[in-house]
Amino acid sequence: MALRNIMEKGEACLAKHCRPVTEFNDKLHTLLNDMAETLDKANGVGLAAPQVGILRRAVLVLETNVPEGEEEYIIELINPEIISADGEQEGPEGCLSVPGVFGWVKRPERVKVRAQNRYGETFEVEGEGLTARAFCHEIDHLEGVLFTEQADHIMSEEELNEYYGFDGGDEE
Ligand code: CO
Repeated sequence: MALRNIMEKGEACLAKHCRPVTEFNDKLHTLLNDMAETLDKANGVGLAAPQVGILRRAVLVLETNVPEGEEEYIIELINPEIISADGEQEGPEGCLSVPGVFGWVKRPERVKVRAQNRYGETFEVEGEGLTARAFCHEIDHLEGVLFTEQADHIMSEEELNEYYGFDGGDEE
């Protein structure tokens, strides 16, 4: 596995519509393995292929809603589509491609996604809270949309300190 460079806002690849994955081959598996290593190193909760310069519909989301004592795990979503969404949450959202910036973003509380796995098999997965937020955020990346465009406003340092009382949130 190898680390990939994470592109930052302003790079053309972050503003493009991504094409479907059609070949579920070693090249895709290497990309997904590299993305997992890159996500882990960056301590993020999600990463989309265009963030590493690949304009294909592949994303990773870290499932953080796990029972006490169990490991968080990465969900690989190829050609993902949101098939249902309900409820509403609002809160700070960040992105590994927009380091240090958080925006106040409304998202559904629960989201169901249909996608393919790395072998091309179709499955459905549900997420809530941060996971639902990450599904939406990553799928937006595949349309060239960053959270800064979805945000009600970009949060000031005072606002962030007040919200978190600390030094940072999750980046996707
Ligand atoms: Co992002």
